[in-house]
Amino acid sequence: MRLERLRLRDYRNYPALDVAFSPQINVLIGANAQGKTNLLEAVYVLALARSHRTSNDRELIRFGADFAKIEGTVVRATGSDALELVVAKAGKKARVNRIEQPKLSQYLGKLNVVLFAPEDLAIVKGSPATRRRFIDMEFGQMSAKYLYNLSQYRTMLRQRNAYLKQLKFHQAKDRVFLDVLSDQLAAFGAEIVVAREALLAQMADFAAVIHRGITKGAEDLTFAYQTQVPADRRDSTEAAYQALRELLASHKDREIEQGTTLVGPHRDDVAFVVNGKDVASFGSQGQQRTTALAVKLAEIDLMKANTGEYPVLLLDDVLSELDDDRQTHLLKAIQNKVQTFLTTTSLDGIAREIIAAPAVFRVASGELTAVSGDAAATIATQPRGSDATENAAAALAAARGAAAPATDAVAADQSDGSEAEPDQTPAAPQPGSAPDSDET
Ligand SMILES: Nc1ncnc2c1ncn2[C@@H]1O[C@H](COP(=O)(O)OP(=O)(O)O)[C@@H](O)[C@H]1O
Ligand SMILES: [Mg+2]
Repeated sequence: MRLERLRLRDYRNYPALDVAFSPQINVLIGANAQGKTNLLEAVYVLALARSHRTSNDRELIRFGADFAKIEGTVVRATGSDALELVVAKAGKKARVNRIEQPKLSQYLGKLNVVLFAPEDLAIVKGSPATRRRFIDMEFGQMSAKYLYNLSQYRTMLRQRNAYLKQLKFHQAKDRVFLDVLSDQLAAFGAEIVVAREALLAQMADFAAVIHRGITKGAEDLTFAYQTQVPADRRDSTEAAYQALRELLASHKDREIEQGTTLVGPHRDDVAFVVNGKDVASFGSQGQQRTTALAVKLAEIDLMKANTGEYPVLLLDDVLSELDDDRQTHLLKAIQNKVQTFLTTTSLDGIAREIIAAPAVFRVASGELTAVSGDAAATIATQPRGSDATENAAAALAAARGAAAPATDAVAADQSDGSEAEPDQTPAAPQPGSAPDSDET
């Protein structure tokens, strides 16, 4: 799929922007703090209805404005969709072909993106929570069912943790009710474990091929899914369900003691293993970088395999961090099939092949100028207050008999799998008490 056109209004430092992009590589070049990342972020937000940089949507609204609007035309083999996301102080509203989507889960997946930024090295080196977030964002984009189960699991987890605390402080006594909560948690948890097992295996296969290519066959990458559900009980939801029920039952006393749920997929992790060793602990920085690149590029193949379309690739400041070899691999992986947006402060150190053909835009103070590239690339940055976008919005609002800025129809649905961090428990870990005590 590709993003044919993007329109912004009062998004970060963009008062108004209307730009058509190349279906292949779009290079955004500019000095620091000009709006390069903001532009990629806008595409990301259009896809996922949340930012990768902040959980506070208000930051997306241009200073002094009431709401931000992102509109994009997404073209797929099967047709095209006009996506629109309005971020107002009271909440978000999403529309597909002008029809409001009351549930985020109905909106997500219309535009699939893979973002690679320097901090993505944290996929390899960071905390298990970082990797879980990565996995969930990734799989959630491909599967509404995954997103649903995740959201249900998180809701149940919050309820069960709250009840465990009541039991701990003797505000509740009914252990049968705890068993009811445990069963429900296990049911949703089983769906997540089985999906993660299958999708991680599929992703690992893609990553291994890419990794072998980058290392010229010298290194072998595998994934190790780390979950408390035993390996031989992850291939059916029934088996995983029973395994989780048993785990919850056997940890019950300790869970009451600690007032929190100690077992389940909210504690999952995945280890990246290169030549038999965990690359986070034993790999060189170069090996970690190569692994992160292979994992990111595998996302592209995984999305293609599961949705029938390649996602849009967003590369924020990563190219100059990769050596020529890795750049060449990246290019091979995307050329002629993946629409790519890449930002850079300079064309130095970027492989010639990458910048030979694409559309190049210069970004300065929230405005884009086409520098080169195919004729498809056109831009209009309109003065605020008199632009077509605003007129259209006003007309649309009038037609609906509503005020122009959007309110919180979608925000109310935030728990829909895209909420920040509900899989974490606030209690501090007792030393040595949790089965994996690396976090809370
Ligand atoms: N809500 C906002 N309203 C207006 N300007 C903003 C907003 N958020 C960030 N900015 C501005 O955007 C600029 C940073 O843009 P960014 O895309 O991160 O730069 P870069 O080109 O280095 O990637 C800064 O000048 C910052 O002040
Ligand atoms: Mg930036």
